[in-house]
Amino acid sequence: MFRPLSLLIINISKHNVASQIKYSTAILPRLSSEKYNIKRKSFGTINESDINHFRSILSENRVITDESDVLPYNIDWIKNCRGQSKVVLKPKTTDEVSEVLSYCNSKKLAVCPQGGNTGLVGGSVPVFDEIVLNFSLMNKVISLDDISGALVCEAGCVLENLDNYVRQHNLIMPLDLGAKGSCHIGGNVSTNAGGLRLLRYGNLHGSILGLEAVKADGTVIDCLRTLKKDNTGYHLKHLFIGSEGTLGVVTKVAVHCPAVSKAVSLGYFGVNTFEDVLQLYRNAKISLGEILSAFEMADNRAICSTVKNLKLTNPLEDYPFYVLIETSGCDEEHDSEKLNRFLSKEMESGHIIDGTVTSEPAKMRVMATFT
Ligand SMILES: Cc1cc2nc3c(=O)[nH]c(=O)nc-3n(C[C@H](O)[C@H](O)[C@H](O)COP(=O)(O)OP(=O)(O)OC[C@H]3O[C@@H](n4cnc5c(N)ncnc54)[C@H](O)[C@@H]3O)c2cc1C
Ligand SMILES: *[C@@H]1O[C@H](CO)[C@@H](O)[C@H](O)[C@H]1NC(C)=O
Ligand SMILES: *[C@@H]1O[C@H](CO)[C@@H](O)[C@H](O)[C@H]1NC(C)=O
Repeated sequence: MFRPLSLLIINISKHNVASQIKYSTAILPRLSSEKYNIKRKSFGTINESDINHFRSILSENRVITDESDVLPYNIDWIKNCRGQSKVVLKPKTTDEVSEVLSYCNSKKLAVCPQGGNTGLVGGSVPVFDEIVLNFSLMNKVISLDDISGALVCEAGCVLENLDNYVRQHNLIMPLDLGAKGSCHIGGNVSTNAGGLRLLRYGNLHGSILGLEAVKADGTVIDCLRTLKKDNTGYHLKHLFIGSEGTLGVVTKVAVHCPAVSKAVSLGYFGVNTFEDVLQLYRNAKISLGEILSAFEMADNRAICSTVKNLKLTNPLEDYPFYVLIETSGCDEEHDSEKLNRFLSKEMESGHIIDGTVTSEPAKMRVMATFT
């Protein structure tokens, strides 16, 4: 039977999970160059006069060279990769990024743009002595049009801060990732990050209205449009979405923010077979229609591993598969009626064996963290 979610006693916050991931390994990871046997290409080597030049472009305290201060920038989130960078630069403006890149280009110095350093495939850390660009100081919101929902901001804005900001205007960010407390919108764009809202809002190719980027030679590319229905000619912005820093550095973005949903519910279900998961997905799209906002699946091994490693409690018993369904709409009564009708039908047909549903924000957060 469906029951209100009351079994989860552990209060898991995003921060607990993050610190567990971040500090689980005490020893330094091996150098990426040795681990993956990578040969350094013929880039220039940074010297004292380069450092002095960077100090003249940025201020003294935005050029970091102390070995122990640079170390965290050389190591990735899961502590799998380690680079050998000697310098971290913290630009504040597009012009500074442009000056830095144009100088590095003329000296053939390699550069590694780094956002929240939450990437899980080693792309955000150097391999050799690449100069790390940290965008944390490019974290200003430039404008928000609360009628069209167009948000324009700098690349170093942290996703969660943006979400909190636009919520004051009854809007939300079209994406929501597990790493939202650290990842930058520029990093998200550069990785074409997906996340929990992808089913409803699509990937970033649809939500990014425009962007500004700086190419390796320092040229600033201005595609910072905010018109959703912009059908004029080529859209260069798409090349930068998912390009992982290879084409240039994203410095500003314009994001289309959808309206906040007043009624949100989350269900977590035990399912017997993968075939049932597929049937459930198809039926959810038909029966829940426009209120279906997320549908995620995990198999038994994935859930068991999460439960074990993060020391959580599974609110359901052992099932071969688990499904998480989120609905978001604007009318609580109407939405829960729809959801309940769907659930009783799917339990009758046996696609769902057991489950739990909640509309309480605190419990939903716990459930979302869990899966
Ligand atoms: C707990 C957790 C959950 C996650 N969940 C998801 C998820 O649901 N979906 C998903 O897609 N990913 C997920 N990720 C992976 C990761 O968080 C995303 O890929 C995120 O978009 C990376 O953003 P970042 O700012 O941390 O970028 P970083 O990790 O710092 O960098 C990623 C890449 O982008 C480049 N880059 C960064 N900033 C810029 C810039 N301004 N201009 C040009 N290039 C740049 C870097 O050089 C690097 O190649 C998760 C990670 C964690 C730790
Ligand atoms: C980038 O710099 C900011 C402060 O300026 C810091 O808080 C952040 O941790 C740095 N990023 C990384 C990945 O170290
Ligand atoms: C960016 O990526 C992070 C990490 O995956 C995620 O938590 C965050 O929600 C994303 N932000 C946006 C605006 O997509």
